[in-house]
Amino acid sequence: MVDLSIQLAPKNPKGLLLANPVMTASGTFGYGTEYSDLVDIQKLGAIVCKGTTLKSREGNPQPRLVETASGLLNSVGLENIGVEAVIREKAPIWSKWRVPVIVNIAGETIDEYREVAERLEGVSGISALEVNISCPNVFSGGIEFCSSAISAAAVTEKVKAVSTLPIVVKLSPNVTDIVEIASAVSAAGADAITLINTVRGMAIDINKHRPSLGSYFGGLSGPAIKPIALYMVYKVASAVDIPIIGCGGINNAQDAVEFIVAGASAVQIGTANLANPGAALDVLDGLKQFMTENGATNLRAVIGKARN
Ligand SMILES: Cc1cc2nc3c(=O)[nH]c(=O)nc-3n(C[C@H](O)[C@H](O)[C@H](O)COP(=O)(O)O)c2cc1C
Repeated sequence: MVDLSIQLAPKNPKGLLLANPVMTASGTFGYGTEYSDLVDIQKLGAIVCKGTTLKSREGNPQPRLVETASGLLNSVGLENIGVEAVIREKAPIWSKWRVPVIVNIAGETIDEYREVAERLEGVSGISALEVNISCPNVFSGGIEFCSSAISAAAVTEKVKAVSTLPIVVKLSPNVTDIVEIASAVSAAGADAITLINTVRGMAIDINKHRPSLGSYFGGLSGPAIKPIALYMVYKVASAVDIPIIGCGGINNAQDAVEFIVAGASAVQIGTANLANPGAALDVLDGLKQFMTENGATNLRAVIGKARN
């Protein structure tokens, strides 16, 4: 029998124990509810819901998705129903599920992050928060929270102060030194770190002589970013002592194993869900098969092997 269970918040009294390490990535699997008729979502390790802000948001102008070589550019702009609707309409459904749901939160000010976390405190059906710090900080002229260790740590601290849930901080690759940022959020009390969010990019429509995306710039995801994500997981896992959740271009079980061997304790499947809603479950099946074929009985024994 292969043991795929993993504790992603060992330092938190509530803990975040997953039956297996395969999760869906924020913004690529809705609220999970949209997929419950298509695939057996209860088999997943966890579901991370769409980015949630204090007020509902309409998001960026169309077009918001452009395919690129081995990747996808998106500029959805955090379109979402807002935290109160999540509490009212989604959490009661999640509370009946076996699969843990992690709410991805975002804000334009530190207070907004704090307030969203405060409102989610004590709501049944929510197992953890994932704090997306790649948002423009309106008080710093639009500079993203993730781009300085000081602001990344400040958001982490504020959210930790108002929430007893495990706090996962999701980092952006669009920084000079990922290890510095990861170390700062770890020191500020993060229970785990997700690496990575999308890589900033753009595409040009040569017929219109214009950027292809309505908001000009977007975030690149999919297989094109996997080597960047692997590098960051490897570097950060060597520097911090909290669990890392690997994300970026994972399409199959082999990709997932690469992240785990690089130092990730769990993985998230993002863009692959858009083409195949069963992608995360396929990764899970393949992971079980890989473990069996290699005579491995415990996933935890494989984590970070590449660093030994
Ligand atoms: C359409 C789309 C929407 C996304 N929305 C969010 C979001 O709301 N919050 C967030 O933290 N990440 C968001 N992401 C980033 C993904 O969760 C993930 O970090 C990224 O796409 C890299 O993984 P992948 O290559 O497997 O897609 C989004 C990605 C896509 C493609």
